Amino acid sequence: MVGLAVLGCGRIGKLHARNVASHPRARLVKVFDVSSEAAAAVAGELGVQAAASVEEAIADPEVQGVLIASSTDTHVELIVAAVEAGKAVLCEKPIDLDLERAQACWRQIAPRRPRVMLGFNRRFDPSFRALAERLRSGEIGSPELLVITSRDPAPPPAQYLRRSGGLLRDMTIHDLDMARHLAGEIVEAHAAGANLVDPMIGALGDIDTCALTLRSRSGALVQITNSRHSAYGYDQRIEVFGARGMLLAGNQRQTSVELWSERHTAARDVVLHFFIERYRAAYAAEIDAFIAALESGAPMSPDFADGLAALELAQAAERSLATGQTVKLSAAR
Ligand SMILES: NC(=O)c1ccc[n+]([C@@H]2O[C@H](COP(=O)([O-])OP(=O)(O)OC[C@H]3O[C@@H](n4cnc5c(N)ncnc54)[C@H](O)[C@@H]3O)[C@@H](O)[C@H]2O)c1
Repeated sequence: MVGLAVLGCGRIGKLHARNVASHPRARLVKVFDVSSEAAAAVAGELGVQAAASVEEAIADPEVQGVLIASSTDTHVELIVAAVEAGKAVLCEKPIDLDLERAQACWRQIAPRRPRVMLGFNRRFDPSFRALAERLRSGEIGSPELLVITSRDPAPPPAQYLRRSGGLLRDMTIHDLDMARHLAGEIVEAHAAGANLVDPMIGALGDIDTCALTLRSRSGALVQITNSRHSAYGYDQRIEVFGARGMLLAGNQRQTSVELWSERHTAARDVVLHFFIERYRAAYAAEIDAFIAALESGAPMSPDFADGLAALELAQAAERSLATGQTVKLSAAR
């Protein structure tokens, strides 16, 4: 059995803790949250111990891997603490809001040859994974155009948005990782953004709507569109158009029942509400991949370098937004 600790028992930490607790080859040893109520609720539900401190959770000799699911601004210090204690890490995205801080974190931990996996869960979604595998197997030839659509059902509260780092680092970062995963290294980014959903978001200095165009080293073009709202639920689609056809992974619904009437044809359920429902299988597969890598010693993927590359892309998109210019990435040099 692989012993794991979960740090942060909020929306995503709770989900990870449940997935670890129900995994047949893992044991959830300890959970920790700076909010003792949040930690106690998860510990009580899953019948595990709530640690009194981060140090206690990480130092437990039964803990081999640490899942970091706390607020983004705590990731770097927790990664360093876990790695220095000799533990493997699965850290939620993004590594940090600041690329230089994330790079400094890597310089600090790299001499220990750490095993760090990043929580880009979409790579583990069964449909997106099948799409990626079929693309790599050459079914549609070389990719030429990719369209990644990601729209949340509704904006998060102002309290979350204030610490989120903005749409591009908080939300688009998943799509930027998928763009790299499917199209290879990105060499150029152009971003357009708008505040169309909620004036409160604009007042916080953020955007809630964006359209990005990326160019990959292979020459493929990627379009990403994001919105903080979607009237019909969590809109998550990927289309890859290539020399010999197209691969398309569409939205998922609660049921496949269709209504045909005098007013509708093929009317179906709204799409699954949000990430907890839509990526249920992906989160479980992500935890399984982390556990399997811990057992086998195989490299972890996506890794810290993937986290840095996605953050660099988010930063480039922000620069493009501010200047109106197309921005070249370090992969272009
Ligand atoms: N991969 C995904 O699909 C996905 C989805 C949601 C959130 N996230 C990421 O997960 C992280 C958490 O997001 P969330 O939505 O669960 O937020 P949340 O606010 O619901 O939960 C964060 C929790 O971390 C706790 N916390 C803060 N500092 C801590 C510390 N030093 N040690 C331990 N716990 C601490 C808070 O008390 C809170 O309970 C963020 O980095 C976010 O970007 C990823």
